[in-house]
Amino acid sequence: MWIEPFLGSGVVLFSLQPKRATVSDINPHLITLYASIFEGKINPAIVKEHLTNEGRRMQEKGEKVYYEIRERFNTDKNPLDFLLLNRACFNGLIRFNNNGDFNVPFCRKNNRFRPAYVSKIVNQVRAVQKIMQTKDWTFLNLDWCECLKLAGEDDFVYLDPPYIGRHTDYFNRWSDKDAIEMAESVQTLDCGYALSMWKENKFRINEHIEEFWQDNDTFIFNHFYHIGSSENYRNAIVEALVIKKGFSATENEQIKICKMLIPQVALSL
Ligand SMILES: C[S@@+](CC[C@H](N)C(=O)[O-])C[C@H]1O[C@@H](n2cnc3c(N)ncnc32)[C@H](O)[C@@H]1O
Repeated sequence: MWIEPFLGSGVVLFSLQPKRATVSDINPHLITLYASIFEGKINPAIVKEHLTNEGRRMQEKGEKVYYEIRERFNTDKNPLDFLLLNRACFNGLIRFNNNGDFNVPFCRKNNRFRPAYVSKIVNQVRAVQKIMQTKDWTFLNLDWCECLKLAGEDDFVYLDPPYIGRHTDYFNRWSDKDAIEMAESVQTLDCGYALSMWKENKFRINEHIEEFWQDNDTFIFNHFYHIGSSENYRNAIVEALVIKKGFSATENEQIKICKMLIPQVALSL
């Protein structure tokens, strides 16, 4: 079984599409959204109706509708509003203040939800729903260490934690201490695991990988970040995929998944 304690947007899960998975994130809104689609509480028709109606109000009354929906979401936590905010906020950012309230400003386009854009989002929901239909997946809202406890020896754990010291918001606090605790506990697991982490950029090298993950196989590849508060933050970065050493024995589901991750890697150490 695939175990992913830092699900985030779920892009890895939806690309690899393992048959059985337990996925989790400390952010309850991401999990509620995906779990609602999985359980059929949210479907393409419901999304279309919500975005069309609220988009029409936004077009007529402007940004105050966005801020009204943001306030409503921070009280009701409706996953449909979470999806809408994510698609109408500045740069598609997901950020929460110290009270756990979503606080990203409006993208300032009153006509954001034009029919073509609504169709695009509805099609994304349909695609996700279609992938999920044949899967045995469980969505959980846990801290990573609780999620790791669910891993058995035949499982495979994929970790994509926040960058140390870079993301700081209500659901994204990740200190050196967290990173070290995770490195130590993951490497005692009997099952396979892989970790995604930045390795270096033009300013510095991530010493954490060399210090705490050196007994594994490391593959590196280049990535460019397009989102950042200023151009200084939109830089090329070398990413590392760290995989449990020698994890290549038998032909099971986890190994196939691991092999699917590796082709994305341009250079190997
Ligand atoms: C780098 S993102 C994951 C990205 C994901 N692979 C994707 O492609 O979207 C890190 C995720 O870890 C979650 N997170 C942060 N701290 C956590 C914790 N202590 N336990 C579990 N999840 C946590 C955040 O909410 C965020 O979604």
